[in-house]
Amino acid sequence: MSSIVIAVDGPAAAGKGTLARELAAFVGLPYLDTGLLYRAVARLMLDAGLDPAENSGEFCAASLEAKDLERSDLRTPEVDRGASLVAKQPEVRAALIDTQRRFASERGAVLDGRDIGTVIFPDAALKFYITASPEIRAQRRFLQTGGDPAAPDAAEALVAMADALRQRDGADSSRAVAPLKIAEDAIVVDTDSMSAREALSHVLAIVDERIPALKRRST
Ligand code: DC
Repeated sequence: MSSIVIAVDGPAAAGKGTLARELAAFVGLPYLDTGLLYRAVARLMLDAGLDPAENSGEFCAASLEAKDLERSDLRTPEVDRGASLVAKQPEVRAALIDTQRRFASERGAVLDGRDIGTVIFPDAALKFYITASPEIRAQRRFLQTGGDPAAPDAAEALVAMADALRQRDGADSSRAVAPLKIAEDAIVVDTDSMSAREALSHVLAIVDERIPALKRRST
């Protein structure tokens, strides 16, 4: 079966990237982390000495190449900030719509992001909205980035991370263009009390039920 699109949206650090990548591998569809597009535009702007808040991202979006998404310097704090500034710009978003649709045009795809089910693929075969509370997301991020839960400043660091995530949620949800929101027909998966493996099994069971033609290798 070709051209099946599965949208995986949700807030930052909800685990949707890992889940979407694994889901794609299980069902044999190409995978695109669309956050990398905004990160790469921010990176190109910073490299060119431009301020990512300035509106020249359309140019960068148009000149993005596949190799720009493979750079190892797309997850720095500077790029985090820059990506959220370029992601607000209607011109950048518009320039990236085609890139995302083309990616899925031949063989379908699993894409993760903020607006996949609402803007990029409103007719996706299946839409997931993966979420978790800011506190749980902060805990996961803390451990993933090598944080030591026994360190004297761990509690403080966790509170600061949860606050930062709340702020990012606010910025992503309140922007004028393509805000983060739950598509009406999305299946919401709250992973607060699920491990990454449980979340994947849960999502795979829904895929099996809703798109039986999409054969997958067993877990
Ligand atoms: O998921 P991420 O943290 O890599 O995303 C980087 C930035 O891009 C973040 O500010 C949210 C934004 N983004 C977006 O606006 N739309 C998407 N489809 C994906 C990411």
